[in-house]
Amino acid sequence: MVMEPKKNIQESASDLGSSDLLLLKENALNVAAEGITIADMRLPEQPLIYINEGFERLTGYSAKSMIGKNCRFLQGNDTDPETVQKIRDALATGNECTVEILNYDRDSRPFWNRLSLTPVINDAGEVTHFIGVQSDITEIKNTEEALRKANNQLEIANRRMTRNLEAAARIQRSLLPERERQFDGILFASLVQPCDELGGDALNWVPLGENRFAVYTVDVSGHGVRASLLSVTLSHWFSRILELPASSNFSSSPVEVAEVLNSQFQMSSENVQYFTMCFGVVDLDQGEFRFVTAGSPPIAVLRSTGETEILNIEGFPIGLVEEATYSESMITVSKGDRVFVYTDGVIEAENEDGEGFGTERLADKLLGTKSLTLANSLDSILDAVSSWEFGVGHRDDCSLLAFEIE
Ligand SMILES: Cc1cc2nc3c(=O)[nH]c(=O)nc-3n(C[C@H](O)[C@H](O)[C@H](O)COP(=O)(O)O)c2cc1C
Repeated sequence: MVMEPKKNIQESASDLGSSDLLLLKENALNVAAEGITIADMRLPEQPLIYINEGFERLTGYSAKSMIGKNCRFLQGNDTDPETVQKIRDALATGNECTVEILNYDRDSRPFWNRLSLTPVINDAGEVTHFIGVQSDITEIKNTEEALRKANNQLEIANRRMTRNLEAAARIQRSLLPERERQFDGILFASLVQPCDELGGDALNWVPLGENRFAVYTVDVSGHGVRASLLSVTLSHWFSRILELPASSNFSSSPVEVAEVLNSQFQMSSENVQYFTMCFGVVDLDQGEFRFVTAGSPPIAVLRSTGETEILNIEGFPIGLVEEATYSESMITVSKGDRVFVYTDGVIEAENEDGEGFGTERLADKLLGTKSLTLANSLDSILDAVSSWEFGVGHRDDCSLLAFEIE
């Protein structure tokens, strides 16, 4: 049921005598949470002539002790002189102003006061009074200060982390081979593009002597710091193991490398990491490339005749299955043949429709790279992959290693 208003506003106000109305207004001012003050600007020292109860609560002083005083008595040692000057200027020019000023209450406890000053102007255009509204914003200020400190600390931590990441990325890059390297009878090229500061991919070529060269690509599951730690460990593992003298028990045959790695780097419950790998040995005298693939993508070959071959050989990623066994594959390689080994970031790069770049597209692309230098052919493949995933961005590390028999 809708209640009919019994009186309109004017009738209601005129019902009250002027003294009742004043009392009502006084009560309203007193229940306000804010302090409300009025200063007479025509008197020397611009004294307070009105103070509400809110201001008494805020400052701890009684109205009696404050009436007749200039409000500057609330200021103290740490009150900012520039803020006081701002108030002085506003009062001198008869303008409104709002400041946040540090004041002290009756017990000398500091508090933050948001002070708004509004001039009262008479018919002659003279500023007769200023009305001040004071709010205690100590809590807001403290929260702001705590936030500022927390932000500062975060920024410092962030800068330290970025510096560390950059240093780690430099170390990781220093473990990569040159972009292109010529040996007697064989040319190598490589390209690594991590999707974060640090990547989980590693690759290299290592001369074994007697016209034999080891090549490998590794792609640790995941990316970022965790993956990069294992990929750096693996780079060191390979350089140590491949430099062992021929007299050692280690033959660096692809199967042996895969099996030793699989037994040494088994995934555990604390360390849920595995990696895919292609490891092979090029023997220039025999014209052979013998290799093992452990979950890595197919090897691509661009023959000197211009044909492409995609060699899809299955194998368990390293570290995933303890009893995994690996078998060796072999292709013959002769002058002018180019062999491409790469990580899955190349063929699994997706376009906006979620379609992968794929090995067929890679084979097509290879055909067009015949006239390019080996290093430039890798750039050209990576450009094609980048255009493919345009608008989506790199989601995985992309690494390519190629060699050409000369
Ligand atoms: C109505 C009114 C209320 C004021 N309230 C405060 C206040 O709560 N805290 C404060 O530090 N200053 C307050 N001031 C400002 C000081 O009274 C004074 O004007 C200021 O310190 C600058 O003048 P001075 O150079 O004479 O000190 C108020 C001023 C007026 C006119």
